[in-house]
Amino acid sequence: MDAVALTNVSFRYGRKGELILRHLSFHAAAGEMWCLLGPSGSGKSTMIRLLMGLDIPTEGTVEVLGERAPYRTVRPRIGYMPQDSALYNDLTGAENLRFFGGLAGVRRKDLGARARDLLEFFDLADAANRLVGEYSGGMQRRLSLAVALMADPDLLILDEPTVGLDPRQRIRIWEQLSKLSADGTTVLITTHVMDEAERCPNVALLSDGRIIGTGSPQQICEAAGTQSLEAAFLQLLETGSLAGDDNNDTEEAGR
Ligand SMILES: Nc1ncnc2c1ncn2[C@@H]1O[C@H](COP(=O)(O)OP(=O)(O)O)[C@@H](O)[C@H]1O
Ligand SMILES: [Mg+2]
Repeated sequence: MDAVALTNVSFRYGRKGELILRHLSFHAAAGEMWCLLGPSGSGKSTMIRLLMGLDIPTEGTVEVLGERAPYRTVRPRIGYMPQDSALYNDLTGAENLRFFGGLAGVRRKDLGARARDLLEFFDLADAANRLVGEYSGGMQRRLSLAVALMADPDLLILDEPTVGLDPRQRIRIWEQLSKLSADGTTVLITTHVMDEAERCPNVALLSDGRIIGTGSPQQICEAAGTQSLEAAFLQLLETGSLAGDDNNDTEEAGR
């Protein structure tokens, strides 16, 4: 089953806005780990917001875990970390987790243990009772990730979770995501950092609201005849999509 399915999706903000996403299709099977790679402004967050049901496609369909937005039943099964994560600075790490876990439907009697497990997993146990306002940027990111995991979601959607982290912290987060993926969680993560995407088993390249290539980093490089994902990306920008040119959109020609 597809955990995530966007089919021929177009999107514009407002009635007269330009097309931000253009006839875009993307599918991720349950249990897969996908990285959505694209430069700033390419439409990553817009895609994620459509997936979360926070915006409605102008055209096409969006399905998550077999349900079309607006979600009636699947929302509690999705862990979401927005690009600008929102934590309460005047609560402790443990309090944040219990608060957001409660909102996500975790039973009251399970909140404490779940929070403790996640604080441990993300190396925040020592900081559990400190105010989040005193956390470093990296600690706040890890806590946001823990928040997204409180309800033990089947699908984890993370919008640029490693922005502002140093290389060591990035690697740690990727290791933790790989562990979750190995345990069966479907993971969809966005990034604009090429070498980060290279760590991911499946990558979708996004440019100007279009998917211009999908596959493992190796498959993408082979298809483009390049040594690196970065070179493949540039190559695909020049020659067009690997998947053919059903993404053409003459309406926007001349931009
Ligand atoms: N609320 C909005 N209203 C109008 N345009 C927007 C809005 N949010 C994003 N955009 C535009 O949509 C495009 C894609 O943005 P976004 O999805 O945030 O890209 P990314 O996450 O890849 O950086 C950009 O051109 C951006 O300016
Ligand atoms: Mg974004």
